[in-house]
Amino acid sequence: MTRSKIAALTALGLAAAAMAGGATLAVAAPSASTTIATRKANFKKMGAAMKALKGELSGTPDKAKVLEAAKTIAATGRVQGQLFPAGTGPSSGVETDALPAIWTNRAAFDADMTKLVTEADKLVAAANTGNAAAMQAQFKAVGGTCGSCHKQFRADD
Ligand code: HEC
Repeated sequence: MTRSKIAALTALGLAAAAMAGGATLAVAAPSASTTIATRKANFKKMGAAMKALKGELSGTPDKAKVLEAAKTIAATGRVQGQLFPAGTGPSSGVETDALPAIWTNRAAFDADMTKLVTEADKLVAAANTGNAAAMQAQFKAVGGTCGSCHKQFRADD
């Protein structure tokens, strides 16, 4: 184990001890920076899956690859909504493109995430039929849900 890892673990231990001593927090929530890093990594995974889909659908699609990418987007979309707890916006001081509107207009944000999952599930279904035109149309529908959420809730978009 490296010296910095030991230092990090020691810091974690101290934080846990401090939490255990505190009356207000029963469970140690992950830090804002951990949560933000996780959701960014998940969005990157979604971006890579969209890229793979675009490549597949520009030629004769490999059904298995389309299925895999569609399932990745659906599964990732299902966890993303939980990675935007209060306190993980720009005011956290952590670098994030998440706009404060997420927390002032939460219902709309959650609805956008649900829409993404619904459309990604439909892409899984379209891939299962093996019909390239259906996959193509559904790929566009999924992409539309990414864009509409980004427009309202992500900076620089
Ligand atoms: C419900 C809203 C919502 C939906 C739907 C959504 N995104 Fe995002 N996306 C965000 C927000 C908010 C951020 C900024 C996250 C941050 O910086 O903390 C983001 C960031 C990203 C990033 C940048 C991640 C990074 O490294 O900083 C990528 C890539 C991305 N999204 C791709 C996608 C793709 C592809 C889809 C659709 C398959 C999608 N997103 C659907 C809200 C959404």
